[in-house]
Amino acid sequence: MFLTASELSRFASRYRANLMNTISGYKSANLIGTRSVEGINNLAIFNSVLHMGSKPPLLGLLFRPLTVRRDTYENIKSTGYFTVNAVDKTIFRQAHQTAAKYAQDTSEFEATGLTEKFIDGIPAPFVKESPIQLGCAYENEYPIAENGTLLVLGAIKTIEFQDTMLQTDGSLALNRAEIVSSVGLDGYALPTLLERLHYAKPDIPTRSLEDGTQEN
Ligand SMILES: Cc1cc2nc3c(=O)[nH]c(=O)nc-3n(C[C@H](O)[C@H](O)[C@H](O)COP(=O)(O)O)c2cc1C
Repeated sequence: MFLTASELSRFASRYRANLMNTISGYKSANLIGTRSVEGINNLAIFNSVLHMGSKPPLLGLLFRPLTVRRDTYENIKSTGYFTVNAVDKTIFRQAHQTAAKYAQDTSEFEATGLTEKFIDGIPAPFVKESPIQLGCAYENEYPIAENGTLLVLGAIKTIEFQDTMLQTDGSLALNRAEIVSSVGLDGYALPTLLERLHYAKPDIPTRSLEDGTQEN
């Protein structure tokens, strides 16, 4: 099938949204934990958590237009903190359910049965069941003028993950914790790692990274 932008614009909006939400590929699936100033804990699934650089460690969250109440954004702005919790095979159904429009005074933790966890210095709830838990502080935000979405940048303040995932070069074997990826707005997949490859150089053929050590 070949489509131009003008043909795309004539599709029914849900159909177009489904197409555009899947066409750029698999995404990560994370639960964003926040707490309101009134002390209500909130949890929302996001598939737009972006790696924005490691020095300093920064993450981006892309928010849909703030035309309706968005508890996650309000809580991040009022408390300055949020958590990012990876979704694994055991919790993806509960994670999906957090997308439902619960009342502002309803905690998605209670609604879904996921367990909240707190650590010193991060006034936002982590998801106890999650294999990777990041504590983040609000840094800045950048409105995307073209469509009203908002990119919120957070600085990573704490990281906690299952020890068994850590590899000798510092990377995490996400498959060992059965972390899922997100397909569009309703699919969850368990990816299979085909191979890790050496850092690419113009004069050296592609090589498998069999010993798990990357030499840059
Ligand atoms: C798979 C999936 C991924 C989603 N990703 C995002 C996202 O990246 N950004 C966003 O603003 N909303 C996203 N949503 C929608 C939010 O989860 C939903 O609006 C949620 O109710 C927000 O909760 P809140 O009002 O407590 O912030 C996603 C929903 C699903 C099902």
